[in-house]
Amino acid sequence: MIITVTMNPAIDKTVDIDALERGGLNRIHHVELDAGGKGINVSKTIRELGGRSIATGFIAGNAGKIIRSVMEEWEIENDFIEVSGETRTNTKVFEKSGELTELNEPGPVVEEEDIQALLDKLDGYADEDTLFVLAGSVPKGVGKDIYQRIIFLAHKKGAKVMLDADGELFTRALEAGPDMVKPNKVELEQYAGMDFIASERELLSAAEKLMEKGITTVAVSMGKSGAIFLQDGYKVKCPGLKVKAHSTVGAGDAMVAALAYSWGEGLPWEDTVKMCMAVSAGAVTTIGTKPPSRQAVDNLLGQVVVEKLG
Ligand SMILES: Nc1ncnc2c1ncn2[C@@H]1O[C@H](COP(=O)(O)OP(=O)(O)OP(=O)(O)O)[C@@H](O)[C@H]1O
Ligand SMILES: [Mg+2]
Repeated sequence: MIITVTMNPAIDKTVDIDALERGGLNRIHHVELDAGGKGINVSKTIRELGGRSIATGFIAGNAGKIIRSVMEEWEIENDFIEVSGETRTNTKVFEKSGELTELNEPGPVVEEEDIQALLDKLDGYADEDTLFVLAGSVPKGVGKDIYQRIIFLAHKKGAKVMLDADGELFTRALEAGPDMVKPNKVELEQYAGMDFIASERELLSAAEKLMEKGITTVAVSMGKSGAIFLQDGYKVKCPGLKVKAHSTVGAGDAMVAALAYSWGEGLPWEDTVKMCMAVSAGAVTTIGTKPPSRQAVDNLLGQVVVEKLG
């Protein structure tokens, strides 16, 4: 079973107004609410592809209830820990001119006992047929070693871990040797201490260094330039698919979802790579972080070109 962990979910609230008037009354024409956060996005995409996952993490207050009801509406199994406070609502105010103003709430403060409750829950799920997807930032109260702790816990029970995080969360987690990682180009450059824009050759060698840490699968996403994939002796590059881009936000989450889904289905490696490219390109064609339809993914699969590297 795939278990996605969203420590810091959010309600994404998009409102449309004519023009924002500071200090005045602004009337909203249209409001849209969606449950967000990287792990939740991954669960949504897996569902759309026809796979199964359980979404967990921390939710709080009324916003947390909305997240749960959106999950039920999407028919995504969920098993969140309720903490006190209020889950973040991130409001995006769109003006007719296209100008965007964002108002992001701080979110709850998670206590040590909540963290322990989540670790116990994950321990209960962990076995040889489990893949944990650890994605995104963590709320206040949660240490930067949390992903590292989860990886140790998972590996004790023979479970696998996929990691999509950056900064210290990523660095600390790497010490524990996750099984799969999907950094984007900038995250890998930062991790490798490259204070310049790396060439593909340099990204490949940074990715190879990650493999030396015991990671079995590395996917480096490079936006519209495509992605590099490494597994065992197999190294390939796929150029980005030519699609009409609507919103590239969440394209990386879509790739993580494709990797997890492919693991769940036991797909061979080359099919996994193709799935990653088709699902992430499909995500770019949808509004916001909405997952692509299975039909759209199937149509894109034929476009994927897999080039062998070195
Ligand atoms: N403009 C684009 N056209 C086609 N494919 C794209 C485009 N942007 C992204 N992709 C696809 O999505 C994948 C992931 O994108 P990217 O590298 O931007 O991830 P990311 O930075 O982790 O995104 P996020 O964290 O916002 O979800 C790319 O490897 C590529 O396959
Ligand atoms: Mg990303």
